[in-house]
Amino acid sequence: MPTTTFKTSPNGTLTGKLRVPGDKSMSHRSIILGSIAEGTTQVNGFLNGEDCIATMNAFRAMGVDIIQNTTTSLTIKGVGLKGLQAPKIDLDMGNSGTAMRLMTGLLAGQTFDTTLVGDKSLSSRPMNRITKPLSQMGADIVTQAEGRPPLQIKGGKHLAGIHYTLPIASAQVKSAVLLAGLYAEGETRITEPGITRDHSERMLRGFSYEVVTTGEKGENIKLQGGSVLKACDIDVPADISSAAFFMVGASIAAGSDITLEHVGVNPTRTGVIEILKLMGADITLSNHHEVGGEPVADIRIRSSKLKGIHIPEELVPLAIDEFPVIFIAAVCATGETVLSGAEELRVKESDRIQVMADGLANCGIQTDVKPDGIIIQGMEGKGLTKGTVDSHADHRIAMAFAIAGLRAKGEITILDCANVNTSFPDFVKLASGVGLAISEV
Ligand code: S3P
Repeated sequence: MPTTTFKTSPNGTLTGKLRVPGDKSMSHRSIILGSIAEGTTQVNGFLNGEDCIATMNAFRAMGVDIIQNTTTSLTIKGVGLKGLQAPKIDLDMGNSGTAMRLMTGLLAGQTFDTTLVGDKSLSSRPMNRITKPLSQMGADIVTQAEGRPPLQIKGGKHLAGIHYTLPIASAQVKSAVLLAGLYAEGETRITEPGITRDHSERMLRGFSYEVVTTGEKGENIKLQGGSVLKACDIDVPADISSAAFFMVGASIAAGSDITLEHVGVNPTRTGVIEILKLMGADITLSNHHEVGGEPVADIRIRSSKLKGIHIPEELVPLAIDEFPVIFIAAVCATGETVLSGAEELRVKESDRIQVMADGLANCGIQTDVKPDGIIIQGMEGKGLTKGTVDSHADHRIAMAFAIAGLRAKGEITILDCANVNTSFPDFVKLASGVGLAISEV
């Protein structure tokens, strides 16, 4: 992959209207469920990023006809629950943990063998969190040492439903078990320790598959194996995880006033809004409506004075992908921000606690790193200097430091940014269009 470097200049102001690309979690799921549904599924608002393209290519390799009408519009000719064919190649999931984990659940129930591979980052991520419950269901999956990819998934196994209590709050694990549950005999039931994104449950229902959610907060989820998914049309809203960069950017850059349009505001994803509001951000939601069972709104953000907070631990799973840029908000706030209960950040596309701390140190900001979080002394961004940051090929680290560039005293150079294309194609163009002084070399 070619190396890409971002360079930012200070003093930008974010203004105007922007629709960021489609939601990554929903785009993956639209391909997966559309492929195993009966009938033709039309997807609009699809995220044409490398992660979702990896998922699309995997289903094409298993005989599914997926027509890309435009970058954001797909027609998927579903083959039914039992219609996938043995791929002739290893399925390459690229950089995507979501693709690999969800696919493993689905592939555990097929009649044929498959091998899943990924890039350097994905090859170092833990997969035993999914192979453990899937094995309990009867799956046969061989991993490398310590549960790392590549994964060899044996076909022709009889799966039986289980009741699995997730040891960690993870939508990927929940979704992998639910997808295996479609192929399992009897009931598959999951209990979550904390609420995680529920796109799989919502989208399964959109495909007319019954999923029952109970519990005070909806933490028990169950389905019966062996029913049919019926094709439907899916409108993927803009990704709140991509919108988050502009929420923080507009909050910290003086004179900003930006509206992010048609953003998915599923309550299992809005932790970033709640956290920024607790910090004093000026965020208003309007034009609320629902598309395909998912709530959507326009989000207006105006610059404001942020203050440091203790981030409530129950909000961590609801903002799990937004912490790199929330750390930038904390640096630009007044007072201390404390994050705890977020050890999961260490096993994302990079170790997001350490990589952010190292990058901030290179830009003059010392932080106090903890095993499960970080403490940041906010000094209204004072002390944020020019510097060179290694993103460790992590898209969200790269974009977080691009936003930090708004308040740094000089140029920030961000290395290894090509993977921004996994979740946010055209980031530099769209960000420049609303006032971020950024270039790509
Ligand atoms: C995702 C779940 C989260 C998130 C990831 C997408 C999903 O991962 O970090 O970017 O689409 O299910 P975990 O389930 O590991 O928390």
